[in-house]
Amino acid sequence: MGKNIPKVTTTFQFCDGGSCQKAKSEIAVREARAYLRNEGLWDNTHTIKTRCNGRCEDAPTWIVQPGNFWYKNLTPEKAVAIMKSHTQENQPTEEYLLYQEGWSVLLTENEKTVSPPVFKCKTEEIHGEILIARAFASDQHLYPLFQYFFQTPRPIAVQVGEDSMLNIDQPHQVDYSDKYEVKITGEQLKLTLAIAGIPKDIPEEIADRKVSVAEVIWLKKKAIFTKALRLKNKKGKHLVTMWIKEEDNKTWEHILKIYLSMSPDHIRIVEDDS
Ligand code: FES
Repeated sequence: MGKNIPKVTTTFQFCDGGSCQKAKSEIAVREARAYLRNEGLWDNTHTIKTRCNGRCEDAPTWIVQPGNFWYKNLTPEKAVAIMKSHTQENQPTEEYLLYQEGWSVLLTENEKTVSPPVFKCKTEEIHGEILIARAFASDQHLYPLFQYFFQTPRPIAVQVGEDSMLNIDQPHQVDYSDKYEVKITGEQLKLTLAIAGIPKDIPEEIADRKVSVAEVIWLKKKAIFTKALRLKNKKGKHLVTMWIKEEDNKTWEHILKIYLSMSPDHIRIVEDDS
């Protein structure tokens, strides 16, 4: 029988994402659940395993509701202490908290700093002098960008593999219902790219179209299309380049602001490429 939700007073969300699993989340979960069962608290609590909570540096993590209490670096001992304090005292276990409502900062010892994308100068045989920014290649970034490019068509051109450029001015469907691949289809383009994380034993043809490198390039020379998103696979094979017209400030600003988290008024450029 399913959980009788109206009876539930406290919900424990155990992160079961990859980093938390590696940090032995499961043994803390087992202790926590055993504690609830033996204390007769099973019916008025709920335990849920979630995917990544977005704080892998503090793995294993939990979230407890109500109250939005976030816990870090869970161990079986901490797990039982947290269970007790929430179910018996209606209080968080403060010493293990990562965050609670009202705090303006996280209490973490493991903050990772991710360097924001920057443009660097480079010379390429094909384009001459360019500015190039290594960008985000995950589906969380690429799928929304493809929606932006293709669902309401922008005046872009697409170059798939070694083919010549193709102007796009019709709306295209961007379908990401497959486990790994996004399909961009319409009258002018049919393109399939793998953008989700793929397992090692995936068929080679899917691995071959897996986007591993994303670059925003900005040509210095005069041309109709001067900015682009260039995607490559793990082996460096060119998959596709989506070109933006020189005068298309709207699309360019979207790329800078939304995709690269960069203000169009303060574009980050590093002169030295060493
Ligand atoms: S996998 Fe648990 S926080 Fe990311």
